Amino acid sequence: MIIDGKRLISNLVRLRKLTDTPGAGVTRFSYGEQDAKARQFLVDRAREMGCTVRADRVGNLRIGLPSNRPGRPVILCGSHIDTVRNGGWLDGIYGVCSALEVLETLAARDGNETAGGDDGLLNVDMVIFAEEEGSNFGSTMTGSKFLTGKYGEEDLDRLTDDHGSAMRKYLERAGLGTEGGTDHQFLDPVPWDLSQAAAMLELHIEQGPVLDRAGIPIGIVDAIFGMRVLEVTLTGVGNHAGATPMDERFDAMTAAAECILAAEATVAADPEKRTVVTIGKIEALPNCSNVIPETVRFTMEVRNRDKGKIDGYTERIAHGFRQIAMDRGISCQIRDHSSSEPLPLDEGIGEVIRQTAERAGIPYRVMDSGAVHDACMLAEAGVPTGMIFVPSIDGRSHVPQEDTKEEDLIRGAKLLLETVEQLRAHPPQRR
Ligand code: GLV
Ligand code: MN
Ligand code: MN
Repeated sequence: MIIDGKRLISNLVRLRKLTDTPGAGVTRFSYGEQDAKARQFLVDRAREMGCTVRADRVGNLRIGLPSNRPGRPVILCGSHIDTVRNGGWLDGIYGVCSALEVLETLAARDGNETAGGDDGLLNVDMVIFAEEEGSNFGSTMTGSKFLTGKYGEEDLDRLTDDHGSAMRKYLERAGLGTEGGTDHQFLDPVPWDLSQAAAMLELHIEQGPVLDRAGIPIGIVDAIFGMRVLEVTLTGVGNHAGATPMDERFDAMTAAAECILAAEATVAADPEKRTVVTIGKIEALPNCSNVIPETVRFTMEVRNRDKGKIDGYTERIAHGFRQIAMDRGISCQIRDHSSSEPLPLDEGIGEVIRQTAERAGIPYRVMDSGAVHDACMLAEAGVPTGMIFVPSIDGRSHVPQEDTKEEDLIRGAKLLLETVEQLRAHPPQRR
């Protein structure tokens, strides 16, 4: 039994068109118009198959195989459909479309083979996580954080966009979070009851250069990097750009420039070269060419697979920022914005994926992930979790150039299905 590779690619190509920035990569933020269209497309496909469709308060979707039986343990399988701004066509949605293929294939087979009796197999639910990228509110894995109880009701007001509009407002506008909303039949409470979750599987593009460079078609993820994000606000004195002498300025922008280079130099000292730092978002006020910037605000994000290193480098960088600001006579405010722990994934599930790849004669590499994924949240909540990677051409992702060879996409989805079948036949034990 194999997935339909042509259908997988054709679904991905159709969904690629759902973007707010045609011709400039895919921009599909959660709770926006294109996100709603993508959800509708996937939900329509699932309903045609006879699947149950449930949503929760924050728009996570849970789509059940028609042959599921109440009370059985379940294998969860999926990813997200939102993107970064001007992102690629595969990040997240590849795992979702592959999970849809798994459902389509199993639905066709279970429908034929098990009409009537109880086959004893595990249930399979596809999950579409909302707001994974943090594009609206700056916090990654938001949907899965609600789903696992890491975020609660108060975070609906705490999480705001750049203009101060709260997540609660977004949900109201999108018609989500209420019984009878636009795209679901039933409303599940958050956090979800995960006591019956036997496994979580997420298939994803690697988003880095390891597999592509090595010419290896499959990655089996053993650990996911953690991260810590700080929001830094430097405040100097705004003044006229022409009339203020250079030695009388308190320029928040030049201070920010020095801070950013210092952050880069700090992690460059990591002997293992695994720590990464990114200043990915910056705003200047008033942002006029002829005014010395009074305020500059930026995010600073440190990632590693070791929590001690994340905290150590974050503290050293923050200390450096305060020193630079003091030397320049400007103020520096630093606050923790968000974080996630580095996480080992489940060894047992990794072993099932490994053996399945081996049986199929597919070369693989066991590797860690610098990108975070919703799977982290499920793993943290105690669900045995595994991830499969396929190569990213030239290691590019979160940009319009993000791509993967068709044959690699299809191979990954096949391996996902085979892994689900293995797990259904030999259910993993929860510790
Ligand atoms: C998600 O893509 C992340 O790693 O930030
Ligand atoms: Mn992703
Ligand atoms: Mn991403």
